[in-house]
Amino acid sequence: MSRKILVTSALPYANGAIHLGHLVEYVQTDIWVRFQRLQGNEVYYFCADDTHGTPIMIAARNRGITPEQLVNQIRKEHFEDLTAFQVEFDNFYSTNTPENRALSEEIYLKAKEKGHIHKKSLNQLFCIHDDMFLPDRFVRGTCPKCGATDQYGDSCEVCSSTYRPEELKDSRCSICGNPPVEKESEHIFFQLADFQQFLEEWLKTPNRVDEGVRKKMHEWIDQGLRHWDISRDGPYFGFAIPGETNKFFYVWLDAPIGYMASSLNFFRKTGKDDLFDAFWRSEENEVYHFIGKDIVYFHTLFWPALLSAGDFRTPTSVFVHGFLTVNGEKMSKSRGTFVRASTYLKHMDPECLRYFYATRLGPALDDLDLNTEDFVQRYNSDVVGNIANLFSRLVSGIASKLEFRLSSELSKEGKVLFDRVAQKKQAIVSCYENRQYAKAIREIQSLSDEVNRFITEKEPWKQIKTDAEAARQTVTDAINAAMALALYLKPVLPVLSGGVEELLALETPLRFDTDLRPLAFGHEIRPYRHLAGRIEKKAFDAMFDEERIEAEANASEKKSASSKSEKAANSPKQGKSGKKENAGKGMEDQATEGIITIDDLTKVELRVGQIVSAELIEGADRLLRIQLDVGEENPRNVIAGIRSAYAPEELKDLKVVCVSNLKPRKMKFGTSEAMLLATGKNDSLTLFVPHRNAVPGDRLG
Ligand code: 2FM
Ligand code: ZN
Repeated sequence: MSRKILVTSALPYANGAIHLGHLVEYVQTDIWVRFQRLQGNEVYYFCADDTHGTPIMIAARNRGITPEQLVNQIRKEHFEDLTAFQVEFDNFYSTNTPENRALSEEIYLKAKEKGHIHKKSLNQLFCIHDDMFLPDRFVRGTCPKCGATDQYGDSCEVCSSTYRPEELKDSRCSICGNPPVEKESEHIFFQLADFQQFLEEWLKTPNRVDEGVRKKMHEWIDQGLRHWDISRDGPYFGFAIPGETNKFFYVWLDAPIGYMASSLNFFRKTGKDDLFDAFWRSEENEVYHFIGKDIVYFHTLFWPALLSAGDFRTPTSVFVHGFLTVNGEKMSKSRGTFVRASTYLKHMDPECLRYFYATRLGPALDDLDLNTEDFVQRYNSDVVGNIANLFSRLVSGIASKLEFRLSSELSKEGKVLFDRVAQKKQAIVSCYENRQYAKAIREIQSLSDEVNRFITEKEPWKQIKTDAEAARQTVTDAINAAMALALYLKPVLPVLSGGVEELLALETPLRFDTDLRPLAFGHEIRPYRHLAGRIEKKAFDAMFDEERIEAEANASEKKSASSKSEKAANSPKQGKSGKKENAGKGMEDQATEGIITIDDLTKVELRVGQIVSAELIEGADRLLRIQLDVGEENPRNVIAGIRSAYAPEELKDLKVVCVSNLKPRKMKFGTSEAMLLATGKNDSLTLFVPHRNAVPGDRLG
């Protein structure tokens, strides 16, 4: 009987782009969801943007738009990025919705009615200038323990100590730079301690969480659970708390309720209203949350307690994964390893990332390292060399000479091979079910090795020259076994497996819940179409460069903005006619060799260009001829020395930066009317690529 399963991934905050770290979770969840669907289960995959809180309110203010406008815009970007990685949600909703408001109020009011809510006054840091209480992360100052400057209000990045924001020395508001004051306000608390016994029982159910998580939770429970502050004073972007004035639900109260709201919205709009209660008010079906290890406390203590207070069921299991590191280190903006999904997509196929993550993912909390060399090597050898190559050698080299028709049945040896591969189905199903993706991939690759060995031993490329029917038999035997591999890889590589289904002209798509059967008598397959291509490490170098350059630009922009605001806030005497400004001017006058003035800089016109076409130039080994759109009526002709690093076909539509007012240069192969900006030499040469929102013709500076 098919299971009904509701699955969620954590909701991304609506003030930043999706990056490769987020994608560990979405890819992990999506593989599981796809697998469950291929098992014939009724699966619903829900997510949403996590829209509330001070950071989002401030980010919108900084952009001069409303928080609603910001969250709508970011939601669209998040959805596009995630679906580009084949993450297949049933609904990607938002927490700033009527469904979420109604459910948040319902849960809160039930908790209140049952006596789990109380109020208490607190002293907190308040910025008089911005007229608001400051969350810990909006206070900066000197660490009270080690003296490191410019640390956050809750913890020091230098000595790792944690403290209260009031303990920070020389503290100031990170929005306006003014020193905050302490101010009293009444807060509303959810009495988590009332749920101590309930949570202990909840944890006892097998498979609720991984063993490591269970131990950690026990530590927390044994220390005694503290009441949870669920209110924030206005101004705050969030839901007003019913019955209160200027008090809003803390973002972490309504965020997980967003899982329910996304499902409610979907079930209502698809006419499946009953499913909401079937999932959330009864234990008859299954509910799973995939999350990162940093938010375990919220999902395994607060969340089950809130659900219980609201008379809803609790999750069947919470699946926790580790963090992403890149080449052994924490992702870093300044090193460029904090790669956004949209940047990755400019340089590499999303299925490469899905595959690599799958080779590294298991059910435990270990961190996952994206080692770029391993990444490239694994994809090229496993997916291109072992899987895609198998189909390409069989189909384009041999089946094409046999009218693409297979034999009437498997040979004896072919049947043995097919049975071996088909019999592994249960083991692979169990790997996916238990989120042992790395193990599943190992099994699949070893089966693929066997199929490749079978082909190598038979040498169909020789058979085709002397005995066409023998070659047809080899193709038939190997193709049937390889078809099973395409099924096994389908949760991880849906596009590649879809390509195999096309190639084999299957009448029904491959599934785990139907028996694998050899293709019918005399089945005709189709001509080979590209399934996967080799990747190169330089694609990562280009991604990292692009991110690093953007991070540097942002950092210098931030620095100049903050020094401006610091001056405005702290040094009113250093105004236009002040001493400091004169000193600066003096410095400028002392310009020395190698230093240019702002006037020199403005002479250079840097513009965004978009490559319309690129082609090789006969007789010129280093050059490419490019048509470049710089926002004018006609594209410009550019002759660029970038052939050692770029193939013409990978340049089409790429946005670049060019010097657009350089005197046109007459060359042997024509006139070049602009110069592209690049770093490096020969095959490490890398073009500068602007952010995706840049428009051809935009001037830099
Ligand atoms: O940590 C985060 O990124 C949160 N936005 C996750 C929220 S998950 C759920 F609870 F909403
Ligand atoms: Zn302030």
